[in-house]
Amino acid sequence: MASDFSRPHLLGIKGMDAAAINQILDLAEHYVEADYSDHAFAEKCRGRALANLFFEPSTRTLASFELAGKRLGMDVITLPVAASSVHKGETLSDTAATLDAMGVDLLVLRHPETGAAQAVARQVSCSVINAGDGTNEHPTQALLDALTMRRHKGRLEGLVVAICGDLKHSRVGRSNFHLLRTMGATVRAVAPKAFVPDDAAELGLEVFDNLERGLEGADVVMMLRLQKERMAVAELPSPVAYFAAFGLDAERLKKARPDAIVMHPGPLNRGIEIASDVADDPARSVILDQVRLGVPLRMAVLDLLSRG
Ligand code: NCD
Repeated sequence: MASDFSRPHLLGIKGMDAAAINQILDLAEHYVEADYSDHAFAEKCRGRALANLFFEPSTRTLASFELAGKRLGMDVITLPVAASSVHKGETLSDTAATLDAMGVDLLVLRHPETGAAQAVARQVSCSVINAGDGTNEHPTQALLDALTMRRHKGRLEGLVVAICGDLKHSRVGRSNFHLLRTMGATVRAVAPKAFVPDDAAELGLEVFDNLERGLEGADVVMMLRLQKERMAVAELPSPVAYFAAFGLDAERLKKARPDAIVMHPGPLNRGIEIASDVADDPARSVILDQVRLGVPLRMAVLDLLSRG
């Protein structure tokens, strides 16, 4: 298959064109409905080695990269960072070079610093996948979000997507902005003034500092967690005041289109950015579908990068 996705790494959505995005989503569709019970893809990437290197907590991203790699027949290792030589003062660069020297083919990296994956990619011979670098990008999350939207709404072009909450510190928000704008969606940044990204105009976002107005007529409502770990204490709003102003509940959701879907990358902080009546409503919430689709989406990414 001719590849539009001809890059050696997946570091961000910025700069990726619609053809490359569609190629990943189309391949992911192929993995979505597959029956894995008989290890159908166990020969696909046999002999390739995948290393997960996570310097920040993760549940969904880490588990789905592990599962995706295993379902493709890869040898998968997850470095227990807290129990590794990082603890003895080893730098990120030396840790990455160490895994590279062992013959790892794909390195999945999550790190608190913006640009960490890019810096490692310049230095190693293996492929690097950015699983979140500080406040910058989290490309596989935006891709699985796009896959979820496309499956529920049948398209990305022309959708009105309201991305709500702490957009300033969210790499999920930033990767989604790039992807959705490239695919022709209208993207709203719905956030308190303090959490609007400085480059919102440059990114082509419609900015709303009122949740109800931002939700009006939206096809997709994506809620984001307050990234407490990336804020100074003084920046952090009180949970009660934040929910009163920016929390999504069933009443507020009525402002969006009646068939609007509700998304959240997880982890959820219930009662802060989202109420349980919405998060657990099977008629509106596609949050667990996002999780489910994360595995085939990551299989598609690993498959494509392994062809290089
Ligand atoms: C996100 C992250 O790490 O950026 N989590 C995820 O990968 N699903 C979102 C978050 O932590 O709020």
